[in-house]
Amino acid sequence: MFKALGLSILISFSGAVFAGGIADSHAEMSGCESCHEDGAPSDDGAFENEACASCHGPLKEFDSDVHNKHEGALLCNDCHVVHEEALAKDSCDNCH
Ligand code: HEC
Ligand code: HEC
Ligand code: HEC
Ligand code: HEC
Repeated sequence: MFKALGLSILISFSGAVFAGGIADSHAEMSGCESCHEDGAPSDDGAFENEACASCHGPLKEFDSDVHNKHEGALLCNDCHVVHEEALAKDSCDNCH
């Protein structure tokens, strides 16, 4: 089901910037287990955020200001809504 959804998103957005959910693109790469312990979501999201940082590095190691400025203040999924077609740059208004 997720696979079919990812495919239809790819087709409808081909030629444009890929705008499908992050979880879909990552699950295609390496499955639900790449972020979820044994494939199941945690209660607090802590395991998932550790997973992001273990592949991408912690906020302070990013080159971009938007990441560095939030070191110690935010978790990845405060801005990246991974299971929806959402852009992190649209999250700013939620807090600022
Ligand atoms: C890129 C990392 C990533 C991948 C891959 C991923 N998820 Fe998630 N998922 C998350 C994050 C982050 C949350 C929110 C965590 C929290 O607050 O508990 C979440 C939440 C969930 C939830 C809780 C309901 C919701 O939508 O908030 C379910 C169920 C879930 N994921 C299932 C899956 C399944 C099934 C797969 C594989 C098809 C998958 N996830 C792949 C990161 C991921
Ligand atoms: C198993 C390693 C791994 C994990 C875990 C992981 N990523 Fe990724 N991620 C990648 C790779 C590989 C790419 C594609 C190459 C790139 O852009 O760095 C990618 C791409 C991305 C992109 C840009 C492309 C897209 O799909 O939108 C974002 C944003 C992203 N990851 C955020 C996250 C977040 C947030 C989490 C945790 C919820 C996470 N990643 C967890 C490996 C991972
Ligand atoms: C303050 C909000 C915010 C937080 C917190 C955040 N990001 Fe981002 N991230 C963005 C924005 C904005 C972009 C630009 C693309 C977009 O709008 O989706 C981006 C882009 C990315 C990209 C693709 C481009 C690049 O710079 O490589 C990756 C990968 C990524 N983020 C990973 C992460 C990970 C991993 C975390 C947690 C350690 C994280 N982000 C936390 C806002 C955030
Ligand atoms: C979940 C809430 C949240 C989101 C979403 C969020 N921020 Fe922040 N932001 C914070 C917090 C908390 C701080 C640290 C406390 C402070 O300095 O205000 C901060 C700090 C900052 C700072 C540094 C402020 C300073 O005085 O140095 C900038 C710049 C910033 N955010 C821009 C953004 C942008 C751009 C986005 C969207 C891509 C974004 N933020 C998304 C909560 C958020």
